[in-house]
Amino acid sequence: MRWKWVVLATLPSLILSILFFFIIHMKSTPMDNTAPEYRPRSQARFSILIGILTRPDGYDRRHFLRLVYGIQSSPIAEIDVKFVFCNLAKDMQKVFIALEILRFKDIIILNCTENMNAGKTYTYFSSLPRILHRQYDYVMKADDDVFLRLAPLALSLMPLPRNDLYYGFVIPCASQNPFVDYMSGMGFVLSWDLVVWIGDSCIPANDTNGPEDKLVGKWLKMGNKAKNRFSNKPAMYDYPGTNGRCSHKLIPETVAVHRLKRWDQWLNVLIFFNMTMFNGISLDLQAQKT
Ligand SMILES: *[C@@H]1O[C@H](CO)[C@@H](O)[C@H](O)[C@H]1NC(C)=O
Ligand SMILES: *[C@@H]1O[C@H](CO)[C@@H](O)[C@H](O)[C@H]1NC(C)=O
Ligand SMILES: *[C@@H]1O[C@H](CO)[C@@H](O)[C@H](O)[C@H]1NC(C)=O
Repeated sequence: MRWKWVVLATLPSLILSILFFFIIHMKSTPMDNTAPEYRPRSQARFSILIGILTRPDGYDRRHFLRLVYGIQSSPIAEIDVKFVFCNLAKDMQKVFIALEILRFKDIIILNCTENMNAGKTYTYFSSLPRILHRQYDYVMKADDDVFLRLAPLALSLMPLPRNDLYYGFVIPCASQNPFVDYMSGMGFVLSWDLVVWIGDSCIPANDTNGPEDKLVGKWLKMGNKAKNRFSNKPAMYDYPGTNGRCSHKLIPETVAVHRLKRWDQWLNVLIFFNMTMFNGISLDLQAQKT
């Protein structure tokens, strides 16, 4: 009969320690989680998902872009950056990318074939409403050779409609009319209702092979969609000297610089936009502008 007393005597301290465990646990869990998606974003006025379409083997590029976007944010927008590719083919990819997913949770794998003109953009937009656990105000498709400045991007979207919006850099290069013709694949934004429309309508489903940015413009035109359009020139452009009239020199009000194929081009962009400045002090160890 003595064990009964032992249980009764230890019961209060047992309950207390369980209680303590829960209190400590509840307090520490949200604090400890410093991943970007858990930072307080109470001031955010709208949300945007940026999907960077890239190839599974682009490990180095992804690592670099995680740095470039991991040090940027906007006080007015909740911005999630994800890497998007099609089904993995090689065993090496399956293992290495599993590690990336476990560590960064920033990868979307679509059921498609890795080829720029075989429907990857269609699969991206049409799959999102089904595979995401939430919705965003805007969804962007971006290339992996573009440098986006997230704060100016958010500022430029702030006054624009949240519905029926098609935003980007209009092609042809010389066009100043966002209805002529379509937004460049470097990086364009669709409002969520248009993302849903792409998945639901038979117009895009029937027309997925070809230059993907041009196709998106064609679908929207055929569907009589995207009455709200915004072409962000001169804030979006190709890197100086890389693409005729789509290029111009780097300017302070930049949202996107495209066609960054070489490291020296990335280097010039990072220096120009003071990406290594911290509290007014340059951390770039005396790198010189060229
Ligand atoms: C992936 O796409 C192929 C071809 O369209 C289809 O046959 C298959 O069922 C899809 N798989 C999944 C898991 O949706
Ligand atoms: C799909 O495309 C084919 C061939 O271009 C065309 O004949 C057909 O009318 C289209 N269907 C729809 C629903 O647009
Ligand atoms: C970079 O910093 C310098 C020095 O503070 C400043 O003059 C320049 O305007 C900044 N450039 C941009 C693009 O913000």
